[in-house]
Amino acid sequence: MCGIVGYIGEKQAAPILLDGLAKLEYRGYDSAGLAVYDEGKITVRRAVGKLVNLVEKTEEGRAVKGTLGIGHTRWATHGKPNEKNAHPHTGSRFSLVHNGIIENEAELRRRFLSDTEFASETDTEVIVRLMDKFTADGEAVDVAIMHLIDVLEGSYALAIIDSLDGEHMYAVKNKSPLLVGKGDGFNMIGSDAMAMIAHTEWFYEIHDKEFAVVSRDGVEIFTSYSQKVSREPYKAELDLSDISKGTYPHYTIKEIEEQPLVLRRIMQEYMDENGELSVPEEILADLRECDKIYIVACGTSYHAGIIGKHFFEKISGKPADSFVASEFVYNMPLLSEKPFFIFISQSGETADSRAVLVKIKQMGHKALTITNVKGSTLSREADHTLLLYAGPEIAVASTKAYSAQVAVLAILAAALKNNIGINLKYELALVANTIESLCGDKELFSRLAKEYIVPSRNCFYIGRGEDYYVCLEAALKLKEISYIQTEGFAAGELKHGTIALIEKDTPVVAIITQANTQLNTRSNVKEVLSRGAKVIRIAMKSVSSHGDQIVVGDVHEILSPLVSVVPAQYLAYYSALHLGCDIDKPRNLAKSVTVE
Ligand code: G6P
Repeated sequence: MCGIVGYIGEKQAAPILLDGLAKLEYRGYDSAGLAVYDEGKITVRRAVGKLVNLVEKTEEGRAVKGTLGIGHTRWATHGKPNEKNAHPHTGSRFSLVHNGIIENEAELRRRFLSDTEFASETDTEVIVRLMDKFTADGEAVDVAIMHLIDVLEGSYALAIIDSLDGEHMYAVKNKSPLLVGKGDGFNMIGSDAMAMIAHTEWFYEIHDKEFAVVSRDGVEIFTSYSQKVSREPYKAELDLSDISKGTYPHYTIKEIEEQPLVLRRIMQEYMDENGELSVPEEILADLRECDKIYIVACGTSYHAGIIGKHFFEKISGKPADSFVASEFVYNMPLLSEKPFFIFISQSGETADSRAVLVKIKQMGHKALTITNVKGSTLSREADHTLLLYAGPEIAVASTKAYSAQVAVLAILAAALKNNIGINLKYELALVANTIESLCGDKELFSRLAKEYIVPSRNCFYIGRGEDYYVCLEAALKLKEISYIQTEGFAAGELKHGTIALIEKDTPVVAIITQANTQLNTRSNVKEVLSRGAKVIRIAMKSVSSHGDQIVVGDVHEILSPLVSVVPAQYLAYYSALHLGCDIDKPRNLAKSVTVE
């Protein structure tokens, strides 16, 4: 995910910006840049690849003078990762950095910028050109920013500097994360607190469609209709011995919110800059040779496996099935002639899965392990390994490892086929951005959890196809951490028995992302509503209806599980939070289960 840092103070800005960008490296990026104001002039330096290239280019920041500047690490979405597309983007007057996606950039180009020559392929350049245009037409900078907020559609976190003004920088936000750091004689802007924590522990939140005017000794926050916001800064409770939790109260929510970063890291590992998939040929050869893929896993990993089965059949046209390891080992189905096994395991240590691996190796079959832990038992004992690159998952209930598993399975299934007719790099980047936008809807998730789920002892998730597979994981998440008994059902199956359990105020969560089944699921929603259920509907925008409480942005239908699971993870988190549960370490559960 793109990282933003900005500084205005007494010290030289460039070394501080480079240091902040280094703290944001974990988010994943493919180019970096900075822009520094000095004596009426903005100097921009950008470099493709690792941050060290920018560090060298600027002589560790010494070569760029000035005490006001902005910096950026870019994860390419619009346009290739090259120098001209790297941020900051500069027009005739302003320089800015951006995280997010402007959805109506084509319309904005037509409406306001038909005569403008663009230097890059990015949607970001549209923003800087708009700032130039609005101010050239006589608008003051703050009015131009309000105008910008009025016309921009999509997600954006922006840090802006003005070549005519050495006393201010601007932060503007909608749906993408952005904070202002409060210092003594200086102030900062950052994508997250980690970028600024070396300098300050005090931060201002910026809400959607607000902007901040940041000077050396002050921060003023305004709404998009110029009303001044009075907001106190908060102190980040960073316990150094617990630093990996960052500013989050629990690992669970931190890991939920790391999912966009994890997806981008996976793309970095398994795709080149043009989106060509890179999966070891020996794995693909084994997969091509087999006549059926047997996916074996436990818990959340099993739920990812079911989606994997679907990917192999829909994307690669290869028969596949997914099995619970503890069942498979003692009740092995009749195997096909040339089976190939895929073990999915976050920890790589799960005993039930290992028991199957040992058995099928004795039978002479080949296996691949998809795991988060390099060198783990399942990885060592299988013929091949693909890593998840999710970073340590500390909360017992798995969140980011699940999406990493689903993403790696999608990449593997796509790599098996020559041309799948989907630009997976673009589609996964869109998924990452869409999840990022959902992270801005926390208050909604918290409220819905409190109103609908928390008062009940049980809950149901319903959906069809991909949505049903997600329901299984959504239900597991809720029961694991809130202890509310929850079941995931195929929406059409509920009426064949379980509907007997629906009574007044029973919470039912419906997941609706698929065009071919949405109407059927909505009929099932009516069935439970008429029996007194309270229904939360999680719908993808293209199939959403009036009254759906949670609407997730559109992504490719086949990848919808990566997005629709996120509100469910949040609902589980906030239900557990409202109930006062031990969210990161639920009772009776272990992260790595090494007994059968
Ligand atoms: C335990 C964990 C689950 C996990 C399952 C499989 O039960 O509590 O969160 O899904 O093991 O773990 P694995 O490491 O094999 O993915």
